[in-house]
Amino acid sequence: MANIALVTGASSGIGREFVRQLAKRPEVEEIWALARNEEKLAMLVDENPEKPIRTFSVDVSDNAQVAAFFETVEAEAPTILWMANNAGWGKFCRCDELSPEESLSMIATNAGGVVNMAVRALPYMKAGSKLINTGSASAFQPLPYVGLYGATKAFVRSYSRAMNKEVKRQGITVTCMCPYWVGTNFFDAVHEHPGNAVVTKYEVMYKPEDVVRRAIRDAGRGKDMSVYGAVNRFQHVAAKLLPQRLVMWIFLKKQGLK
Ligand SMILES: NC(=O)c1ccc[n+]([C@@H]2O[C@H](COP(=O)([O-])OP(=O)(O)OC[C@H]3O[C@@H](n4cnc5c(N)ncnc54)[C@H](OP(=O)(O)O)[C@@H]3O)[C@@H](O)[C@H]2O)c1
Repeated sequence: MANIALVTGASSGIGREFVRQLAKRPEVEEIWALARNEEKLAMLVDENPEKPIRTFSVDVSDNAQVAAFFETVEAEAPTILWMANNAGWGKFCRCDELSPEESLSMIATNAGGVVNMAVRALPYMKAGSKLINTGSASAFQPLPYVGLYGATKAFVRSYSRAMNKEVKRQGITVTCMCPYWVGTNFFDAVHEHPGNAVVTKYEVMYKPEDVVRRAIRDAGRGKDMSVYGAVNRFQHVAAKLLPQRLVMWIFLKKQGLK
């Protein structure tokens, strides 16, 4: 019964960095890394010689695949000390440029996948276990042309903070990390509807290693939110103080959109 760190969205960007940093922690004996792309997952093994890395090709938006993965978890009964519930994607465009199928798939990954993985993982956590759900700064307010993505992340933020209170008695903490823009492959897909490229101005692009280091530190301190970066913290506060209509207006102005 190994003490493990479980990371979803592990094949790239923020998740890959979670694997790298969690593999260095002495209490973690194995990393279990999930994503869809097996070739990219396989690279994690060479990249992280410190600890055994087990890779699982799982689409977190597919309940049957998630359930099958948890049959392995049940058979081996590891203790999940750390979990980065991080798989997700977004597209930036008008709501009707996303097909209903794409829209539902985004919700199924970013919201449904987070819930499914979290609820199924909880029985394998113990006092001191840390669950980090990946939200986003887009959760702080509605953002036109990032609307559906931001709504899924607002769901994750709200769900995570409530969940943190619910599992407190078990000594488990839930932290919603809310990154601002981070330099990853995330941006390869956001403009798949290039006829109408919107939201193209990114005033700051943080590094995955800094965002993840902060999230692990905040989770270690039992915080229910992790907001890395001065610009991000400013936006977090501004979104609380200003009317949301004004925040949306400023965002559209910055992006040169109406
Ligand atoms: N980059 C940013 O600016 C930013 C800002 C705020 C929040 N975030 C959030 O951070 C998380 C990680 O994103 P990233 O920036 O690291 O982007 P990324 O480099 O594109 O990584 C996304 C990861 O999620 C996995 N994934 C996507 N859909 C999946 C599915 N249905 N099932 C299983 N795995 C899936 C991908 O692997 P496969 O394709 O192999 O499955 C990949 O490992 C996401 O939740 C994203 O919304 C990113």
